[in-house]
Amino acid sequence: MTQFDLTRRPRRLRGSGHLRDMVRENHLRRDDLIMPLFIAHGQGIRREIPSMPDIYQYSLDELDRELDALSEAGIFRLILFGIPPQKDAVGSDAFSDGGIIQRAISHIRDYDERFYLITDVCFCEYTDHGHCGVLREDGTLHNDATLKNLQKQALSHAEAGADMLAPSGMIDGMIRAMREALDEADRSDLPIMSYAVKYASAFYGPFRDAVDSSPQSGDRRAYQMDPANAREARVEARLDVEEGADLLMVKPALSYLDIVRDIRDQFDLPLACYNVSGEYSMVKAAAAKGWVDETAIAIEKLLSMKRAGADLILTYFARDIASHLDS
Ligand code: PBG
Repeated sequence: MTQFDLTRRPRRLRGSGHLRDMVRENHLRRDDLIMPLFIAHGQGIRREIPSMPDIYQYSLDELDRELDALSEAGIFRLILFGIPPQKDAVGSDAFSDGGIIQRAISHIRDYDERFYLITDVCFCEYTDHGHCGVLREDGTLHNDATLKNLQKQALSHAEAGADMLAPSGMIDGMIRAMREALDEADRSDLPIMSYAVKYASAFYGPFRDAVDSSPQSGDRRAYQMDPANAREARVEARLDVEEGADLLMVKPALSYLDIVRDIRDQFDLPLACYNVSGEYSMVKAAAAKGWVDETAIAIEKLLSMKRAGADLILTYFARDIASHLDS
């Protein structure tokens, strides 16, 4: 009867929902997601970040409701960012016992021990100049002096009870420096997830509003990577593997899925990608205008990251899309 001789009909596998589920190649699970939290010094603070709708800065006394919402959603992996009471030239709150992150760790631990706490290890939220380390007199970043402070920050987060450390400063040698300091303090058990491949990206704009960390002068192109470069990502990742990183990260995610795929293929460590603030805000803004379906877009984007080879995704969507995902 048919005039067409089609032996291959891929559509046959798409005809039923059952079958589509059975042949699905990639899955987005709650367990894949890590939710960033912004913790502010002070009291009674529950401040929505203007450029990031539904994402708040919380002081510790306001945090519990958010923790409840997260546990109800089944999101138990958090990465913590701190907004200190005072910023100074070296970012000393970052490695002080009573620092905002150190206090946040013990608060969350006491409140609900089910949470797994990753800390961002960097200085830009803590320095008055907004750069990711110590500056020389000429305003350039002093790489090796910054390494010493990273060791202090790592030890301090470890002492406070962090479950994993995630250095994000793109400082040469940061993984080795932290690993040595931790091992010497008998913390060889504590894993490091390196923001190994981090680009100098305009997609971080809303985050810098959230933690008030825009550089007072200059930019971060002297330490973060040029968006034009791909091979260099392997150089960065290889060094971090050699230096002892336990997990690698690519950041941002969406405009760098080629890099996610390449790092996945070249290295065998678990791979995370960071669906950063600008990627979140663009969806929220378009959804607020009624131009796109927020949940559908979020899931499609996160799925694209899994398909590109990411095992884990840091995303501000984690809490709100959790109910749409597999456990
Ligand atoms: C640096 C850090 C940044 C982000 C996470 N850690 C920003 C930067 O390099 O300016 C960005 C995250 C985001 O945009 O969501 N501590």
